This record gives sequence, C-alpha cells and structure tokens, in this order.
Amino acid sequence: MTVLGIESSCDETSAAVYTDQGLLSNIVSSQTVHSKFGGIIPEMASRAHVEHISRVVRTALEEANCKMSNVDAVAVTTHPGLHGSLIVGSNFAKGLALSHNIPAIPVNHIEGHLYSPFLEFDDITLPMIALVVSGGHTSLFHVESTDAYEVVGNTRDDAAGEAFDKVAKMLGLGYPGGIVIDTLGQKGNPQAFSFPRGMIRDRNLDFSFSGLKTAVRVFLAEHYPQGVPEQDLPDICASVMEAIAEVLVVKTMKAAKKRGVRTIAVSGGVSANSRVRSFFHEAAERKNVRVVFPSLEYCTDNAAMIAWIGHTKAQQSLEKDLSFVTGAAALRSDGKKAKRKTRG
Ligand SMILES: Nc1ncnc2c1ncn2[C@@H]1O[C@H](COP(=O)(O)OP(=O)(O)OP(=O)(O)O)[C@@H](O)[C@H]1O
Ligand SMILES: [Mg+2]
Repeated sequence: MTVLGIESSCDETSAAVYTDQGLLSNIVSSQTVHSKFGGIIPEMASRAHVEHISRVVRTALEEANCKMSNVDAVAVTTHPGLHGSLIVGSNFAKGLALSHNIPAIPVNHIEGHLYSPFLEFDDITLPMIALVVSGGHTSLFHVESTDAYEVVGNTRDDAAGEAFDKVAKMLGLGYPGGIVIDTLGQKGNPQAFSFPRGMIRDRNLDFSFSGLKTAVRVFLAEHYPQGVPEQDLPDICASVMEAIAEVLVVKTMKAAKKRGVRTIAVSGGVSANSRVRSFFHEAAERKNVRVVFPSLEYCTDNAAMIAWIGHTKAQQSLEKDLSFVTGAAALRSDGKKAKRKTRG
C-alpha cells in the first residue's frame, strides 16, 4: 500500500510518500513571504501554494523513487486551516485521485499532529494522553486507538503557539517567532521575570494564554518604553518559555493522573521548544511515565503525518469497504473518528 500525502493548511506546502515499509519522502516548502508582515496573509499563502504544489509533489515522488501509477491513494488535509490554502491542496489531490482512479482520503490536520509520534515510534502503549500544541491549537486528548480519541482539555482563548508568536512580535523578533524565542531563551535565566501561568491551579484540563500575552505587553510598556535592549532579550524569552512550558506540563500530567495513563505524547509546532521538551522529560522521570515527542521535522506542519493517517485509514478500510474514500465524494466528508466527545 503506497499513499501520497499532501498538506497545505497554512503556510507550508508539503508532500510525502508513506508505504508498508514506512516513510519514503517528506518534502516541506515553507513560505517566507509572510515574515515581513508579522503574520500570515491568507491570500498570499494560497497563491504561494499554487506556485509550489506541483514541484513539491513531484519531488516527493522522485525522492521516494515512486511513480503516480504506483500510488494506491492520495491523503490530503481538508480541515481545519485557511480556506484558500486548504482548497489548493484538496483540489490538487482530488485531481490526482480522479485522473489515476484512486481514492482520495480526507485528513483532519489536528489528527495529523495528534498521531505524528507514530511516524517514528512503533511501541507506543495505548491508551495515552496526547497534547497537541501548535500555532492554532492547544488541546489534550485521551487516545484509545489509532481511530478513537476524546478531547479532554482545550485552550479557552489563544493557542500556546500564538502566544509565542505574539510575544515575539512585541519583542520585534519577526514571524514566526517561537523558534527565535527558543534560541534566545536558551541563553537566558528562566527565573529572571515571573509571567502568569494561566489556569494552572484550576481543576479542569483547559488552558488560557491570553493573560500571558497581556502581561508581557504591560511589562514591556512599564520596563522598556524605549524598546528592549538586545542583552535583556534572553532573560525575557527564557521567562516566557518557562511560563508556557510549566502550564503545558502541569495540565498534561494532571490529565494522565486523572485517566490513570502512563504514556504521554506531545506534538505540534510548540513541541519543538527546548524548554517544553526538557520540562516534560523532567516531570515524566519524576512521575515514572513515558513521554514521546516527534523529531523536530515532524513537529511543525508536514505531509508525512497526513500520509501516515491516510495509510492507516486505507488499511482499515481495505478490511471493510473502500467506497467511503473514493474520489471527489470523499473530500466532502470530514473523516470523523469513531468516538469524539467534547469534554471528559
Ligand atoms: N522551537 C519552538 N518553540 C516555540 N514555538 C515554536 C517552536 N517552533 C515552532 N513553534 C511554533 O509552532 C507554531 C507552528 O506550529 P504548527 O505548524 O504546528 O502550527 P499551525 O499549523 O500554524 O497551527 P495548527 O496546527 O493549529 O493549525 C508557531 O506558532 C511557531 O511559533
Ligand atoms: Mg499545524
């Protein structure tokens, strides 16, 4: 079974080939056009996807030493994301699937992040608690299988990635800013400043990051009305990272304890953060639970995770009925999982 995966939900155009032997290629073309605007301009993102998608798909096939005639299904992100960007990938996938008379499999982008650790680990014990922490989402899941999970916690306002990006913008560090904060923060003192840990003591498993954003804004206006001198940036970045990482770890550990689960997976762009990783490793060792992260290349958006889901779905449906994923009709379905509650 060979699946071509396509991802275009935001500002990465990506294609990957996943087979029964594993991942054969994963090409990611990141759009740099948005950095000067301090955020993504949706129309420019769609146009950049149109420009790059043919080349990215062709390169992924070439690198996998695979022809379209060998592909059994095309998996594509259909939601959530920027509508214009999603349409480019979906239509490209639909065209390929129709012209080669193979199924097109709709994939939920967040499920892609959720299951991305499975790309590299084949020994994950289920059930697990999974934290998906990205540019647009911060959610906790209780995962029972590769097609059954339950949302047990969610951000009530901003995602952690958005908090990183907005703080970076306030500090004049450009977009996307999470990785810049990470690099600078590794040289700073995480205890230098104390920023709020939203909802950390609440009994529920929800998050809030909007207060942190406001606190940083007020702090900067009060202490640095003329702008932050370069030498003070590392301490501010380290302190912001510490605040975000602590909330993520405390809430995830709480979820694992509540559910009596001993495996934790952390994925999405913010899972690349060095302090988030070290904080989780320290807590996991103390609590004697296992924590897994995808490699850095699979934390941010990539088609490998989409192809993996497509491959899993295709294998499951082969045992049942493939008609639900056939051709254009499949792209109108939302690929719902067997079990989905909003709160546990
Ligand atoms: N090392 C890092 N430290 C902190 N944040 C990071 C790091 N690397 C990436 N990020 C953040 O991850 C986010 C991008 O992740 P991702 O690509 O998963 O999000 P998205 O696709 O935009 O959103 P979603 O997946 O919710 O639709 C950005 O907010 C970026 O700043
Ligand atoms: Mg994403």
